[in-house]
Amino acid sequence: LQHLLTTEGLPVTILRHILDTAESFTGVTERDVKKIPLLRGKSVFNLFFEPSTRTRTTFEIAAKRLSADVINLSMAVSSQTKGETLLDTVNNLSAMHADMFVVRHNQSGAAHLIARHVGPEIHVINAGDGWHAHPTQALLDMFTIRRYKQDFHTLRVAIIGDILHSRVARSQIHALTTLGVPEIRVIAPKTLLPARVERLGVHVYHNMTQGLKDVDVLMMLRLQHERMESAHLPSTEEYFKYYGLTPGKLLLARSDAIVMHPGPMNRGVEIDSEVADGSQSVILPQVGFGIAVRMAVMSILAGN
Ligand code: CP
Repeated sequence: LQHLLTTEGLPVTILRHILDTAESFTGVTERDVKKIPLLRGKSVFNLFFEPSTRTRTTFEIAAKRLSADVINLSMAVSSQTKGETLLDTVNNLSAMHADMFVVRHNQSGAAHLIARHVGPEIHVINAGDGWHAHPTQALLDMFTIRRYKQDFHTLRVAIIGDILHSRVARSQIHALTTLGVPEIRVIAPKTLLPARVERLGVHVYHNMTQGLKDVDVLMMLRLQHERMESAHLPSTEEYFKYYGLTPGKLLLARSDAIVMHPGPMNRGVEIDSEVADGSQSVILPQVGFGIAVRMAVMSILAGN
C-alpha cells in the first residue's frame, strides 16, 4: 500500500490487516501504548487546510508514538496565503525530505492530486477531502464496531443524518460493505441524501421510527453547514424533532446497541446530551481508538 486515499475498493485483507495491526498497538489499555521505533528518522507532515481537533491531534500522537518527527503546518499562516499553489507547497516540503503527508482539504480529490504528484518515496494519507472520503475515520469506526460487536456478519448498522455532505458516511459505507455487514441503513430527510444512494447497497429510511428498529450500531452525523446550500438547511429545532437521537428514539434500537459519532457533535441538533453521555455511547472510546488505527496505517504505509 503506497497511499491511503479512500476505503472504496480497499481489499478486505488490507482492511483486516489495518484493524489487527491497530489492535496490536492498543496494548492492555489504550494508555499503555509505549513509543516504538517503527518510524524513527521519518518526517510526517500534517497539512490541514481545514479545521480539525480529533484527526490532526491523533495523527500527531500516533506519529510521535511511532518515533517519527512530526511537522504541523498551519496552513492559515503558510505561504499559500501569498498565492503559492498546493503542488508548489508540496514540492517545497518534499525538498525538506518529507516521508509522509497527512492531508485534509475542503476540495474533493486534493489528497489524490498530491499522491499523483509526489515521488515513490513519499506516502500520502487522506485525512478528509471535501465531500469525498475520510478513510482513517471509517477505519477507526470499524475498529470501534469490532471492539464492541466482534462479528460484522450479523450486524444491522444505521448511519443517521446529513449523508449528502458527509465524506465520513461514504467511507463508512464502503468499509462496512467490504467487511460483510449484511444490512446498512441510511436515515435522513430526502434533501440530505445523495441521488441514487441505493446504488451503494444501503437501505433508505426517511424516519427514525422505522429506521432504528432493531439496529445494533447507530452512527450519528452532524449537519455539515460548511458544505450546504441554504436550500438544504433545515431549522435546528425541526431537525432535532425528527432526526435528533433522544433516549426515547434510542429505545427503538436493540437494547445493547452502541451509539457512535465521528465528532464534532452538535448537542441538541443531531444528538441529545442524555444519549451522547449515556451508557450506550462509545463516542469517546471511538476517538481514542483513532490513535492506534492511525499508528497502524502509518506503519503499514512505511512498510512495516
Ligand atoms: N471526525 C473528525 O474528522 O473530527 P475533526 O474534524 O475534529 O478532525
